[in-house]
Amino acid sequence: MIGEDPIQFDRHYEGPIICVKGLRNSFGTQVVHEGLDLEVRRGEIIGVVGGSGTGKSVLMRSIIGLQTPDEGDVKVFGQSLLGRSDAQTIEVRKRWGVLFQGGALFSTLTVAENVMVPIREFYPNMDRDFRREVAKYKVCLSGLPPDAAPKYPSELSGGMRKRAGIARALALDPDLLFLDEPTAGLDPIGAAGFDNLTRELQQTLGLTVFLITHDLDTLHAICDRVAVLADRQVIAVGTIEELLALDHPWIQQYFNGPRGRMASSGKQLA
Ligand SMILES: Nc1ncnc2c1ncn2[C@@H]1O[C@H](COP(=O)(O)OP(=O)(O)O)[C@@H](O)[C@H]1O
Ligand SMILES: [Mg+2]
Repeated sequence: MIGEDPIQFDRHYEGPIICVKGLRNSFGTQVVHEGLDLEVRRGEIIGVVGGSGTGKSVLMRSIIGLQTPDEGDVKVFGQSLLGRSDAQTIEVRKRWGVLFQGGALFSTLTVAENVMVPIREFYPNMDRDFRREVAKYKVCLSGLPPDAAPKYPSELSGGMRKRAGIARALALDPDLLFLDEPTAGLDPIGAAGFDNLTRELQQTLGLTVFLITHDLDTLHAICDRVAVLADRQVIAVGTIEELLALDHPWIQQYFNGPRGRMASSGKQLA
């Protein structure tokens, strides 16, 4: 029987940051995941790839508790989260930040106010001026100029909006960052800038990053390992070199097709 007390975040935990076992998700008769396993190591940027509709976003939502799976176990920071209430998981949820597909900033709030939303939610008693200072700092950390803080999302470019989304995801100094297709819709220069930001944040803040992406350049440039979703499961996890050694048609086509070859040669030039 699970009690109502919040489960505590264990600062000394050394194991995998995310551990998904035997996950099953379905919508009506459509089975999206079946027996899906995945482990994410501390400090890595793991790229999650797969065809459109293979369940990448649903996997992320299952891990962060927005989607209740039919079966399976999800542990984050070593804590089993399934079947727990929001009140029980609050200390663990504070330790991650999320950038959803599409960015999803509140359009009626400024960038700084957007960043303050999670701070207000998790630390309602924090002094208002201090909250503002924290928000300003996060805006700078995300590579935005300070004068972006009082602007509304509609006044920003697509790339700046993504950075504002990162600033909000970093609001609570997370250990783990979830990014769902962060470079989709950005031009190549904006996308490369965002990749650099992700890598810099991971290195300087010691983050673990769960990164869903279609972007082959991103995979080559910043991912330590790549997990491939197909046939309702994670069919392979490894470095791109390790994946290329596998004889799977989707993997071969994806990494060795014309776009894949271009992305890998671009990396060698860089
Ligand atoms: N809330 C939902 N209700 C019904 N079907 C859904 C829901 N969310 C996702 N799906 C379906 O699950 C499948 C996987 O979705 P998703 O994880 O969003 O794919 P992607 O890999 O492109 O991120 C899709 O076929 C999608 O239509
Ligand atoms: Mg998706």
